[in-house]
Amino acid sequence: MYPMLQADGLRVRVAGPDDAAAMATVHLETIRVAYRGIFPPSSPTPHLEDITAEWREAIADGLNIALAAEEVETVVGTVLVRPDPEMPQCGQLRRLHVVPSRWGHGIGTRLHDEALERLRATGFHAAGLWVLEDNLRARGMYEQRGWTLVPGMVKRWPTLGATEVRYTLDLD
Ligand SMILES: CC(C)(COP(=O)(O)OP(=O)(O)OC[C@H]1O[C@@H](n2cnc3c(N)ncnc32)[C@H](O)[C@@H]1OP(=O)(O)O)[C@@H](O)C(=O)NCCC(=O)NCCS
Repeated sequence: MYPMLQADGLRVRVAGPDDAAAMATVHLETIRVAYRGIFPPSSPTPHLEDITAEWREAIADGLNIALAAEEVETVVGTVLVRPDPEMPQCGQLRRLHVVPSRWGHGIGTRLHDEALERLRATGFHAAGLWVLEDNLRARGMYEQRGWTLVPGMVKRWPTLGATEVRYTLDLD
């Protein structure tokens, strides 16, 4: 149905409109575990319907490329790339999520690498991302893969009690 990009039990493919609900389920399941201890317990819990609507919108937006990692016809990971809205000459990597039960099996790396290939193929020479300052697992992953922290560039979310930091990567 959609182009298959790699195959050896796990396949990474371009997501279509029918994937929005599965992508949202992965998204919610992942952040519920990964962001426990980062966001205060009082912070609002996102609803599946809202996240599904956000994914549906993102998949429909022609500027975005949404990828789904699928095992046995079940979506277990997601990633989204697009032009950075604040720096359109730079590609942006977002929503890299793998269901917690499958962490540590290389799925995040496959999605990350495929996402960067998509950005290169679109003509981008640099990529950027925002990650929660306290998300040490993801930051470790990015740093091991060559991403560089941009000193002093932060986004603060006082109502959520969280701060994001920015990383960039040369794609050439
Ligand atoms: C970050 C995330 C996508 C990694 O997915 P994954 O499928 O576990 O990734 P991989 O198995 O390919 O491992 C990638 C890296 O994650 C880190 N990692 C994997 N297992 C880990 C563990 N048990 N403890 C700490 N870090 C670990 C390592 O840096 C690893 O790189 P390495 O194999 O070169 O050491 C996943 O943990 C996740 O969904 N986290 C929550 C969402 C999130 O933080 N997304 C990023 C938002 S910007």
